[in-house]
Formats: sequence, C-alpha cells, structure tokens
Amino acid sequence: MHKDIPLCRLEDISDGGAKGIELDRGEGFLDLILLRRGMQVYAYTNRCPHKGTPLETFPDKFLDQTGELLICSTHGARFRVKDGFCVEGPCEGAFLEQVPIRVSGGTVTLV
Ligand code: FES
Repeated sequence: MHKDIPLCRLEDISDGGAKGIELDRGEGFLDLILLRRGMQVYAYTNRCPHKGTPLETFPDKFLDQTGELLICSTHGARFRVKDGFCVEGPCEGAFLEQVPIRVSGGTVTLV
C-alpha cells in the first residue's frame, strides 16, 4: 500500500518526544504519530481505539506529564510508547495501530 514515503528527518523529532505527521495521500489524509527514543522511532496511526478521535489537543502534544505514555485528550486513555498498548482508560487492553517505518541515513520513511 505504501511505497517508501519520506516522513521527516530523525532530528525533527526531539529525543524522548513526539511529532504528528499528516500525509495527503490523494484518497485521504494519513494522520501519524512518530515517537523518538534515541535512534529508535515508533509510529502509530493517530486514532484512538476507543472512539477513533485523534489523540492530541495541541500540535505534537501526545505525551502525558511523565513523558512515558501517550494520552488521548478525549477521555484520557494512556498508551505505552513502545507498542501502543493501552494501559489505562476506556479502551484498556487495546492497541494503537502500528505503522511500518524505517530509519535510515537520518530519515524516517514510511514503508
Ligand atoms: S476517544 Fe480516546 S479515550 Fe475515548
């Protein structure tokens, strides 16, 4: 479905932080969350498994106060960064949808 679409530079995501990316794919937008931990990047579709809303209220504000968990601004569900698992909230036990990416040569690419 995807064919190697460059999303951003690794350095565009603060280490320990998160970044929202909106891709115009012609037939609709693809709304993504990228999270960086050192050289590792995790990517999810920006859609809460509870009601399908985007997670953030403000641009790039996906993490709770601890910086360890993503938080849904609609009803407060919290998700682990490393696998998108919901540890708390109305969709506890569900997962954010993982998106396949590659980090190579300092570029984050949708594959
Ligand atoms: S829509 Fe995310 S917790 Fe309800």
